[in-house]
Amino acid sequence: MEQIVSLAKRRGFIFPSSEIYGGIGGFWDWGPIGAELKNNIKRAWWKEIVYKHNNIVGLDSSIIMNPKVWEASGHTTQFADPMVDCKKCKKRFRADHLIESLRKEEEGVTTSADIFKLKKALKKVKCPECKGELTEPKRFNLMFKTYTGPVEDTSSLTYLRPETCQGIFVNFDTIRQTMRLKIPFGIAQIGKAFRNEVTPSDFVFRSREFEQVELEFFVNPKEDEKWFKFWQKERLNWFLNLGIKKENLRLRDHKKDELAHYAKSAVDIEYRFPFGWRELEGVANRTDYDLKKHSEVSGKDLSYFNEGTSQKYIPYVIEPSLGIERAALVFILDAYDEDEAKTAEGKKEKRVVLRFHKDIAPYQVAVLPLSNHKDLVPVAKKVWEDIRDVFRTRYDETQSIGKRYRRQDEIGTPYCVTVDFETLKDKAVTIRDRDTMKQKRVKIVDLKVVLSNKFEK
Ligand code: GAP
Repeated sequence: MEQIVSLAKRRGFIFPSSEIYGGIGGFWDWGPIGAELKNNIKRAWWKEIVYKHNNIVGLDSSIIMNPKVWEASGHTTQFADPMVDCKKCKKRFRADHLIESLRKEEEGVTTSADIFKLKKALKKVKCPECKGELTEPKRFNLMFKTYTGPVEDTSSLTYLRPETCQGIFVNFDTIRQTMRLKIPFGIAQIGKAFRNEVTPSDFVFRSREFEQVELEFFVNPKEDEKWFKFWQKERLNWFLNLGIKKENLRLRDHKKDELAHYAKSAVDIEYRFPFGWRELEGVANRTDYDLKKHSEVSGKDLSYFNEGTSQKYIPYVIEPSLGIERAALVFILDAYDEDEAKTAEGKKEKRVVLRFHKDIAPYQVAVLPLSNHKDLVPVAKKVWEDIRDVFRTRYDETQSIGKRYRRQDEIGTPYCVTVDFETLKDKAVTIRDRDTMKQKRVKIVDLKVVLSNKFEK
């Protein structure tokens, strides 16, 4: 993890938010390379979910919604973590996380987030920092509060959304009508979510501001199990197809006592992080919980009428939900590799390389003149201009060519195109492959086609 954190900073992936003021716990800034990575993951997800399914459409709903949404969804009362304070050092911890560490030492203690079950088990736990005595667990609501308009009182109290899907549920019927959708159909959304996590931790894994990509797939209640299985498989395959190693992924069923308040069943797609197996993406069967609640509280009938069978029902919802920062961390961790490369002087040295899938790599092609010699620069810039509309590219003429290769390897650019003095005579460039480090000479007129073929594979 330390290597990843240092690489992420050094190469412009991730920085602590407002670092010049000492940062702020649980918030991160995604630098130039990190922003590209996140955009590529989001694009890949949207392509897979929305463009590949004619019965799935997109949405971009507002972050702040009528506070009644959160009453109906159960978040104002249920969306809480059990927390304890150390009486001695005053540090605050998630009670369920402390129990989880205890469970590793002692069989039979569950990880239940139920605060009353936790009380008993917590009696055995001391503060992990100073071994001081802990307070009784209290419920801590994770929603960030704010006010709309100039008056700050209960009538203007609103929340930053803790999950994006509620925007989908409240728009369910409007979208169904405007897009003439029939069950089964899905609504997908990418957007920011905010949770005032008690203990943000493990770099960007658990943060207080993050982006979710969520699909709410509305189905006939009789077919919920079929679609629940379908989406587990689809989502697992998405990661595998984007190059995540099979041995680092697994599915884990939620035990009854760890299910969210809205779920009948849930499966986590877990990744083997350096700090252990943890949830990467969740797939939940939310039943008709949300639509039913919104129908009750808003008074608007959110049931579905099947004209073919004359059946009327509130659809069930299958929900795959992923945090983009968590996914980006996984793509970086899984792509990280070290091998040996030869320097310009022929010496062998350690090389750090991110072997990203080509769809995910921040840039696809870097165009590099051998040096910043006045005869090479205009030719290299022309090569870059010729291909930049087709590929995600970067032009770079600073520092030695060896250092620039290292830089591109460390941000995972699959191909470097080098313009050298031969180019001036033979009108050809060298394509260097990130993974094999093999170099191939290609005529400039053929470059676009040769590169396109590489990305099509
Ligand atoms: N709408 C369902 C929902 O929000 P969740 O399991 O609470 O379910 C879904 O969150 C996904 O969002 C998680 O699998 C994870 O990828 C991401 N996520 C949740 N909390 C996060 C946090 N504090 N920081 C980063 N990502 C988070």
